[in-house]
Amino acid sequence: MKTLTAYFSASGTTEALARSLAEHTGSELFEIVPKVPYSDADLNYMNPLARCNREMITKKDVSIVSVVRDMDTYDLIFLGFPIWYYGAPLIITSFLKEYDLTGKKIALFATSGGSDIGKTAQKLKPYIGEAEIIGADVFRDSDSLNAWADGLLQERKEF
Ligand SMILES: Cc1cc2nc3c(=O)[nH]c(=O)nc-3n(C[C@H](O)[C@H](O)[C@H](O)COP(=O)(O)O)c2cc1C
Repeated sequence: MKTLTAYFSASGTTEALARSLAEHTGSELFEIVPKVPYSDADLNYMNPLARCNREMITKKDVSIVSVVRDMDTYDLIFLGFPIWYYGAPLIITSFLKEYDLTGKKIALFATSGGSDIGKTAQKLKPYIGEAEIIGADVFRDSDSLNAWADGLLQERKEF
């Protein structure tokens, strides 16, 4: 089973977990980088006019710097992001829309300021085509994330 760890991280928390997960599972690591980086002002959700709030309202796709060239070769994608507004940031749907994910398994891992995963998986379903989300959760540390990933990989082996 070939696995990819793809992640978006605006301020480094998700990135740290993604790096550890990729190393732990021996998966390729891909950072989802926005063409226009998020400044601190862009992330200030207290300001109604901040970029993050505008994106949430307009739902206009966020351009990404590069693509996963060999996406076809992966069976399982660990997809990581911070929880924004109780769900995945818009750049995650922009990422998912770029690929034909038919037949792939997707495991969502997130970091947050306290929210749980909520309806995040349900909300992403329209963007994954014929792929299957096999797990989704919020994690506070890499030990719990890596243990969760081990469990998912073990389950896949048993089929
Ligand atoms: C625009 C924005 C919206 C956020 N919305 C939530 C939220 O709904 N619930 C929550 O618990 N944390 C929320 N957060 C906090 C982030 O999920 C949290 O700080 C996360 O760990 C940041 O990850 P990163 O460093 O990888 O970007 C939000 C942060 C930003 C910038």
